[in-house]
Amino acid sequence: MFGPSHKIFLGLVLVAALPEWNPASAQRQDHTEASELTSQRLRGQGWWPTKVDNAREEFVGTAACAACHKQVALTQRGTPMAHAAARASESEVLRSNPTLTFSTPPFQTLITSERVSSKYIVSGGGESMSGQLLWSMGAGVKGQTFILNYLGILFESQLSYFPSINGLDITPEHPRGTPQHLESAFGAPQSDKAVQRCFACHTTASTVRRQFDPDRATPGVTCEACHGPGARHAKAMRANRFKAGTDAILDPGSFGPVQLVDFCGACHRAPLDVTSAKDFTPLNIRFQPYRLSKSRCWSRPDLRITCVACHNPHERLVREAGFYDAKCIACHSAAATHATIDGPHNSQPGKPLTCPVSNEHCVACHMPKYQDPQFHGSFTDHDIRIVRLGDQYPL
Ligand code: HEC
Ligand code: HEC
Ligand code: HEC
Ligand code: HEC
Ligand code: HEC
Ligand code: HEC
Ligand code: HEC
Repeated sequence: MFGPSHKIFLGLVLVAALPEWNPASAQRQDHTEASELTSQRLRGQGWWPTKVDNAREEFVGTAACAACHKQVALTQRGTPMAHAAARASESEVLRSNPTLTFSTPPFQTLITSERVSSKYIVSGGGESMSGQLLWSMGAGVKGQTFILNYLGILFESQLSYFPSINGLDITPEHPRGTPQHLESAFGAPQSDKAVQRCFACHTTASTVRRQFDPDRATPGVTCEACHGPGARHAKAMRANRFKAGTDAILDPGSFGPVQLVDFCGACHRAPLDVTSAKDFTPLNIRFQPYRLSKSRCWSRPDLRITCVACHNPHERLVREAGFYDAKCIACHSAAATHATIDGPHNSQPGKPLTCPVSNEHCVACHMPKYQDPQFHGSFTDHDIRIVRLGDQYPL
């Protein structure tokens, strides 16, 4: 268990210690380029996603951004990230399923929704426990998990809704055996810190000035969850104070590759977040920044292999394998004059690596999808590599 993590960690340190190197093709400057823990990033100056220090008045909301960034706002609204949370009263799933039931003998669970209120009731052995269903987390691409209020304590529901089975099943990572008692059939009580982190990743401005205030949170990952509070930016831009305006908003487009991947990693889990927590189980397939950092393609971080090289955070995920070919070929082609491929990391210096097997649909073979029965769905492995039949999933 320690072996691989140790190697990865050393690999990252080594990369940071290499001399300055600027590929001609990388337009933007490589700034401070050591990977960091999200907790370290959050202690730094300025905005970082999931930060909790700003005041409510510093946020203006997506509608204000949309006045000037119409196109971005239009497409971002359609992404699962923008719908990563919903109040129970606004949840599509609960509205269209007024009753949901599930049995984990000896307990039965019933979720009932009437107009704006939903209840989560577990009964069995002559007892019952009932809580108010406050929020549903997850856009419902794979599943939704509920935040329950039981006598002022917030629980993560033992059951989640999965669209692929159009029903309930055990929440991933929760115990799957026979529940020992009523409470474990109900859910897992969350510490204040865990709940705040949950909302920080799934909503916008849920904690302000370090005060958790979910009632006034904006559901989902909206503009200001990534770019930081924008009231000052909007005000300056309205007054045509361009310099003050750009200074007042975070533009991740100015980042080098390591910082850019750590940026998405504030929620998707940065490489060091995973290695320091020793999270070496197959479930870490969900932590793309960590998986990518294991890949040899990342052996020399480069803007052509960051999250935004393949994904526009303002648009929906592209599901056609062919779309990604150009992203790979940017480095893996005889034409790509590229220091990474020709440099010290290439086992055959001077010879760009090209595929002996195929010249299209690269991701279908080199970024395999793994089915996870707990999620009733599959995840894409971002550890880009040669996969041979019978290979174990590399933790
Ligand atoms: C009054 C118009 C206006 C409003 C409102 C506005 N912006 Fe901007 N924004 C601009 C202009 C003008 C620029 C500079 C040109 C460009 O990049 O589009 C800009 C640039 C940006 C940039 C790039 C910054 C850079 O350094 O290049 C980001 C990110 C951004 N805006 C986000 C937001 C967000 C988030 C909101 C809402 C909180 C918002 N804007 C509201 C006008 C506005
Ligand atoms: C503030 C937290 C946060 C940040 C920062 C963040 N994400 Fe996400 N992202 C999420 C959450 C939460 C989901 C899950 C949405 C859902 O419920 O399906 C998600 C889902 C996604 C998806 C999957 C969409 C789908 O169709 O299933 C992609 C792709 C993605 N994010 C890319 C990025 C990229 C690229 C970045 C960095 C530029 C980034 N994210 C930064 C929170 C975040
Ligand atoms: C550190 C940030 C973070 C925290 C904390 C967090 N999530 Fe998420 N969550 C994400 C991201 C990122 C995704 C998208 C994962 C993916 O599909 O790649 C996600 C996805 C989900 C999904 C959709 C299923 C899936 O995996 O795609 C559900 C449901 C969910 N989270 C519920 C919760 C609940 C409930 C809590 C707290 C009790 C929580 N999450 C805490 C970042 C976070
Ligand atoms: C998941 C994180 C995330 C969210 C949510 C997000 N952005 Fe961005 N945005 C980014 C990143 C990362 C970049 C830099 C992209 C790059 O350089 O390739 C960016 C770039 C920009 C830019 C400058 C370049 C461009 O594309 O015009 C503007 C303006 C902008 N975002 C506005 C917005 C607005 C408005 C919203 C809300 C409607 C929003 N963003 C939501 C991550 C996000
Ligand atoms: C070289 C291209 C590439 C890069 C770089 C990349 N992705 Fe992906 N990503 C993909 C492909 C391909 C898919 C699967 C699309 C499909 O078929 O559904 C995907 C899917 C996803 C999903 C949906 C969940 C899943 O497992 O299928 C999320 C979330 C995501 N990527 C986040 C990220 C983040 C965060 C980063 C940066 C660490 C990143 N990606 C970097 C190509 C890439
Ligand atoms: C930023 C440039 C870059 C991009 C983009 C890139 N790679 Fe790579 N890739 C590399 C480098 C560098 C190596 C390692 C070369 C070496 O060590 O000899 C590598 C190695 C590989 C290997 C061999 C891995 C092994 O374990 O032997 C495969 C397969 C691969 N890449 C496939 C892909 C695919 C598929 C894509 C697109 C999804 C992609 N790469 C995108 C730079 C890149
Ligand atoms: C049908 C599956 C498949 C597809 C599609 C595919 N590859 Fe491969 N690729 C392989 C296999 C298998 C190997 C290992 C070949 C061997 O070592 O005999 C490989 C090897 C590689 C290597 C390592 C070459 C070396 O010299 O070590 C790279 C780089 C690579 N592929 C990139 C790509 C790129 C880029 C694409 C898309 C343009 C792609 N592959 C499409 C199966 C595939």
